[in-house]
Amino acid sequence: MGVIIVVGALYGDEGKGKISAYLSFREKAKLCVRSGIGTNAGHSIYLNEEQVEKRMPVRLRQLPCGFLNPTTVVAVGAGVAVDPVVFREEVEKYGLQAWAKVDYRCPIITAEHIKQEQESAHLSGKIGSTCSGSGAARADFVWRRATQAKNVPELKPYLADVALLANEAACSGTVIVEGSQGTLLSLGLSPDYPYVTSGDCTVTAAAAQIGLSWQNIKGAVMVVKAIPSRVGEGPLPGELNVDEIKEWGMAERGVVTGRLRRKAAGIPWDMLRYVAMLNAPTEIALTLEPAPFYYFRKGQGFFSCPIYLLCDY
Ligand code: IMP
Ligand code: MG
Repeated sequence: MGVIIVVGALYGDEGKGKISAYLSFREKAKLCVRSGIGTNAGHSIYLNEEQVEKRMPVRLRQLPCGFLNPTTVVAVGAGVAVDPVVFREEVEKYGLQAWAKVDYRCPIITAEHIKQEQESAHLSGKIGSTCSGSGAARADFVWRRATQAKNVPELKPYLADVALLANEAACSGTVIVEGSQGTLLSLGLSPDYPYVTSGDCTVTAAAAQIGLSWQNIKGAVMVVKAIPSRVGEGPLPGELNVDEIKEWGMAERGVVTGRLRRKAAGIPWDMLRYVAMLNAPTEIALTLEPAPFYYFRKGQGFFSCPIYLLCDY
């Protein structure tokens, strides 16, 4: 019983979605909740061998990957900016009409927010934003002029008090929280401001974004990518040049933007120690992509997961 929160250690794209799906099976989770910023997050997961071979995973930007476990309800927490177009696309694509919930308080991303970010030289140029409208929607939320999910007719069938659902579910079963981005992309806690996203990406921030009580948290998994990567601008310790990345067969593209990911030669241990201090994980999942895959075959789903090492921390 209780909540397990999955977060990224460094700059995102560590494999949080894969780990969250794995944990949803392992724990027979009642609920899997997306925390984090908005549709700037791109989580990908393989459902069968063909997808692995073609390297064409299922991609999600709004709903959590825990839906792969057929008995897990999926939800979006109150602090996540919601794009109704993306939400409905994912619900329909994966047949989640009876399984998907969205907190009635979520701020809404509009076409105007996306346009504002795309047209901003500061965001699209200097920062390297995903231009998903997430930051602009959150800015309007802070200005207290955003639309909330409760005022969007097409979201009506999915509205819920996700804070209540999650705290209640945690008292009778397991809840998985699928964090997004990475700790070092946190707005307030990263040393790299302004090269950050528009909110914090730590374990405690994830709990706050959903409205989870601290007493319900039973564990935290910090996902560490053995070969760290970063999309967008900002420092990347030990960065390799593009030729080295290609020569080593390590080229990867971002889920949301399709941009080539920047890569580092190895884990920056001093930074890892710092983010471990911020997140105090109970387990660490070490992932390595795109090299070897481990396969987990559970329930209806068949998906690949990079190496998953659980360490007592
Ligand atoms: P924004 O949050 O889309 O404005 O992007 C701000 C910075 O965070 C940029 O460097 C993005 O590339 C990065 N970023 C945002 N979301 C993600 C993510 O889910 N994975 C990796 N990087 C991200
Ligand atoms: Mg990603």
